[in-house]
Amino acid sequence: MDALRESHIQQKKMRRLLLFPTPLQGHINPMIQLAHILYSKGFSITILHNNFNSPDPSKYPFFTFHLIPEGLSEKESSSMDATSLIALLNEKLAETLQDHLSMLLSENTDDPVAALIADASWNFTQGVADAAKLPRFVLRTSNACSFLVYNSFPLLLEKGYMPVKESRLEELVPELPPLKVKDLPEIKMKKPEDFFYLVAGMIRTVNASSGLIWNSSEDLEQDALIKCRQVFNVPIFNIGPFHNYFPPSSSPAESQDSISWLDTQAPNSVIYVSFGTMAVLTQTEFLEIAYGLANSQQPFLWVVRPGSVQGSEWLELLPDEFLEKVRGRGEIVKWAPQQAVLAHPAVGGFWTHCGWNSTFESICEGVPMICHPSFGDQKVNARYVSDVWRVGIHLEDKRDRAAIEKAIRTLMVEDEGVEIRRKSLAWKEKIDGSLKQGGSSYQCLDSLISSILSC
Ligand code: UDX
Repeated sequence: MDALRESHIQQKKMRRLLLFPTPLQGHINPMIQLAHILYSKGFSITILHNNFNSPDPSKYPFFTFHLIPEGLSEKESSSMDATSLIALLNEKLAETLQDHLSMLLSENTDDPVAALIADASWNFTQGVADAAKLPRFVLRTSNACSFLVYNSFPLLLEKGYMPVKESRLEELVPELPPLKVKDLPEIKMKKPEDFFYLVAGMIRTVNASSGLIWNSSEDLEQDALIKCRQVFNVPIFNIGPFHNYFPPSSSPAESQDSISWLDTQAPNSVIYVSFGTMAVLTQTEFLEIAYGLANSQQPFLWVVRPGSVQGSEWLELLPDEFLEKVRGRGEIVKWAPQQAVLAHPAVGGFWTHCGWNSTFESICEGVPMICHPSFGDQKVNARYVSDVWRVGIHLEDKRDRAAIEKAIRTLMVEDEGVEIRRKSLAWKEKIDGSLKQGGSSYQCLDSLISSILSC
């Protein structure tokens, strides 16, 4: 931060950027990281945000924050599934954004607005930006592989792969190797047509934008990117890993407990377990995970978000017998400073839901994974982790305690795990190189900046 503050004082800001994430944690985090990257390159930053899940401005003293009120109570917002919420806000927010944008664009400042950078699922922002004659860039917070699948939805619907049918789960989808029907990023919701409509809008408005930004790496997604550059009509900027541009920021004191505990563990011995910011488990799933961990005999650090197990507040379902079994070997926390955890030498594996942020953070630290996807792009990511990048084991058929115990022991103590760890470290090295001068992400960031300034 001090280095950033220094650059703030020394640099004259040239242009302002408006960054607008969707109000979901897994989307806000990378947008804020992107804001830091662009700020360090001399742009002033305004974060547009909703009331719901609003970021705390006091944590980001170099940015300006501007509220785009969504007109829903937090109770209303939190009772909807995330996809329905985004679909509804796409319908509701166009006029509000238009008014706020005219206000922001008419301000007389020495750093006029150069562009809007919006989350890819904020479809309505393209029309608003066009009307205001403001270039709109898009941040897609997942990766190129899963975006190609979203782009294929019309074909998948036409060929009957989607909506996904139980009888076809194991079939390969020849148009999208190595995916099987069960890997397709369907989301179960009350009105599935809302999801297909949202995705169609995302593809259409990405194609109308001034450029597409990914928190990913050219090295990792070479083949998917070649296809994306053929299919989409816009420049593509793959500038990740966002979180490696800066040292990890300091975490709240309570999350330091995880690090202090890891400090007492042997190198590569701990399996870190976390299912991101949205996944919810049934009570049975929760108990199978607990006993899988207990029976594996491996040390573990397990994040259980309060409220993430149906019908339970936090840990009250865990029986005494379990707690007795893992005493001194397991640490359970409500939240962990994940990037610091993955970088810790004691961590030898990550049992993850395969949200893209978690997956990429793990790849960038060379930590092999156990994949436990639940919805959307997580299933595509899991298939790539196990079958393409070969940096993890996919828990795809059974997820009972015996299957979990076996996967943990395979990854942490058996020869197969050693080979997966070797591959993971090779990817880490490659990706580290991409941020260095001349590396692919370094070059893509330069082109993104030129592109914004030449609009
Ligand atoms: C959601 C969707 O589930 C996912 O499919 C999509 O790719 C992104 O949005 P989410 O559940 O938020 O993902 O997971 P993920 O993308 O992995 O992001 C979680 C972020 O929270 C990561 O950056 C992770 O480092 C952070 N985190 C999570 C912590 O820092 N500590 C924790 O204890 C848990």
